[in-house]
Amino acid sequence: MIDVAFTGADARRADVTIVIDVLRATSTIVQALHAGYRRVLCADGLDRARALAAPGRVLAGERRCVRPAGFDLGNSPVDTIPPRGEELVLATTNGAPAIVRAADLSPVVLIAGLINLDAILDAVGGENVQLLCAGTDGRPALEDVYVAGRIAARLDGPHTDAALVARAVARAYPTSRDALAASADAAVLVGAGLEADIRWCARESVVSTVPRLSGTGTGVVSVDDQSTIDQCQGVLNYS
Ligand code: MLT
Repeated sequence: MIDVAFTGADARRADVTIVIDVLRATSTIVQALHAGYRRVLCADGLDRARALAAPGRVLAGERRCVRPAGFDLGNSPVDTIPPRGEELVLATTNGAPAIVRAADLSPVVLIAGLINLDAILDAVGGENVQLLCAGTDGRPALEDVYVAGRIAARLDGPHTDAALVARAVARAYPTSRDALAASADAAVLVGAGLEADIRWCARESVVSTVPRLSGTGTGVVSVDDQSTIDQCQGVLNYS
């Protein structure tokens, strides 16, 4: 069954969960691993991220799209190039907490944006696939539903009504840039002077990185490029 959760509240257990926060957290994670960060640690809050600070770790994140006090980077994917350390610690409003929560839902959790669209489709297996849209402040976000629809349209098997809705949303826009630009989150980014990030995140299948959850701790999960992960998931000592 191919299903879509429009927000975290709709999420359920599945063989595979693919988390989507295309503007911008999941795009940033894909880009960071592609750029050469060995690992991304997703934290469920700013204080959790600050507590993870250590040599070799770069703190990135946002509140209202702005870099939090004391953080090294904001949440712009392009800022992960070149890597400034071994590990990126990421704390964002919706995307990073959604990834932390997804650890309880599936043995396999993948991270998708448009920039790794084809790579995600190549990596997906299993009969029950859930496309989990991070949404914005507990509400569906157009851009995430659009990406979920693009992925769902290319997955075989029965689709839930939610997946059919997402596919219909994807068909409503001629290009990914149109879809992302039409969203309320894009308007916030434009207001913050971050319009270039929308164009960056709307590019399709430009990297082959497939971020996959590799370990869990209290309020934090690690994400590595799937190609480097040992099949066993780890328990992190980050709590
Ligand atoms: C989030 O996790 O809420 C975001 O990715 C927001 C953003 O930085 O654009």
